[in-house]
Amino acid sequence: MDNADECRELKDELFHLARVALEGRPQDMHLLVRKLARRYKAEDGALSSQLTDLLRKAPVRGSPTRRAEVAGLPLDNDSRLPLVRLLETPELEIEPVYDRTTWGSLRQVVDEQRRLDRLKEAGIEPTRSVLFTGPPGVGKTFAAKWIARELGRPLATLDLSAVMSSFLGRTGNNVRVVLDYAKAHDCVLLLDELDAVAKRRDDSTEIGELKRLVTVLLQEIDEWPASGLLLAATNHPDLLDPAVWRRFEMVIDFPLPSREHLAAVFRDLLEMDEDSPWPVILGVALAGSSFSDAAQRVRRARRMAALNGGQIEHQLEGVVRAAAESLGRDDRQDLALRLMRDAGVSQRQASEITGVSRDTIRKHDQREGA
Ligand SMILES: Nc1ncnc2c1ncn2[C@@H]1O[C@H](COP(=O)(O)OP(=O)(O)O)[C@@H](O)[C@H]1O
Ligand SMILES: [Mg+2]
Repeated sequence: MDNADECRELKDELFHLARVALEGRPQDMHLLVRKLARRYKAEDGALSSQLTDLLRKAPVRGSPTRRAEVAGLPLDNDSRLPLVRLLETPELEIEPVYDRTTWGSLRQVVDEQRRLDRLKEAGIEPTRSVLFTGPPGVGKTFAAKWIARELGRPLATLDLSAVMSSFLGRTGNNVRVVLDYAKAHDCVLLLDELDAVAKRRDDSTEIGELKRLVTVLLQEIDEWPASGLLLAATNHPDLLDPAVWRRFEMVIDFPLPSREHLAAVFRDLLEMDEDSPWPVILGVALAGSSFSDAAQRVRRARRMAALNGGQIEHQLEGVVRAAAESLGRDDRQDLALRLMRDAGVSQRQASEITGVSRDTIRKHDQREGA
């Protein structure tokens, strides 16, 4: 190997190390360091034993079963990195909020899996493969966690955008290995960011590889065992190969949240008094945002309030102000009105927060009311 190759390889290694460390995956970190220790044994014995020492001093925390399972995770052949992320007991920081249709479908999936015997008696197969579609940040990945938690099973996630970008030449194979692993273990498998497969379409050198990958996926979806659950999520259903799309037995759509649903999440996040108007005000002001976008702004406000020792209300007002500032004139007037009508804000406050003059609000109000 010449110097340039070696340098490239070291940089790749550094990148993997950084990723695994920053994602807080101590077990994976161990695997990686052990691999490095082995690799440098011949070439640089001192470095190798230093690494081994580090490993000895920092034992993996977690139960023996956990270690065994981690050891059994499917690895990429060359990098020896795990291809799949395993959440053994998925936990949610808040309870998800979905509209009635979405909840109905999610509950049905869980119900079927819980009562496999009943279905079997009736000679009916449960839903084995489900595709989640919807814009980013509306709770698709979250829903997979929710389902796994409800079923008391581990969640194995194959993030296709990650696998595709680093190991395209072996993606098809890797995907098969992961799918086999999931079939052999009693877990819920999530193929996240499925559209990553489709996005590469435009690059002609990769078409062959992608075709193989799509073929693998199609076969696997068809042959998925009834006791397993294969979930997939995409932000861009339009990019998916229609053949892949048709294979899923159920498609669950995740729309952008309504104001009421945003307010419900804010109520959960803010832990304010029951009668605090802020969740509703924020729901009105941040209408049209995704859950994750809206939640991020509110979490930031909480942090700022905690750091500055100020009142949370003051920070939340800033969130609404910023939302108003991003709007055009007409929408800002609408927001002022909705704050008054739907969130019970006084005309004076609505004017202060949105920067629309009280005169304009009054006129707008009369016009709308007429
Ligand atoms: N329906 C929801 N209810 C409550 N919180 C949500 C919801 N959807 C998203 N969030 C918040 O946003 C974060 C990111 O959501 P995620 O599921 O990753 O979105 P997606 O996979 O649709 O892009 C979640 O971890 C959660 O904090
Ligand atoms: Mg996601």
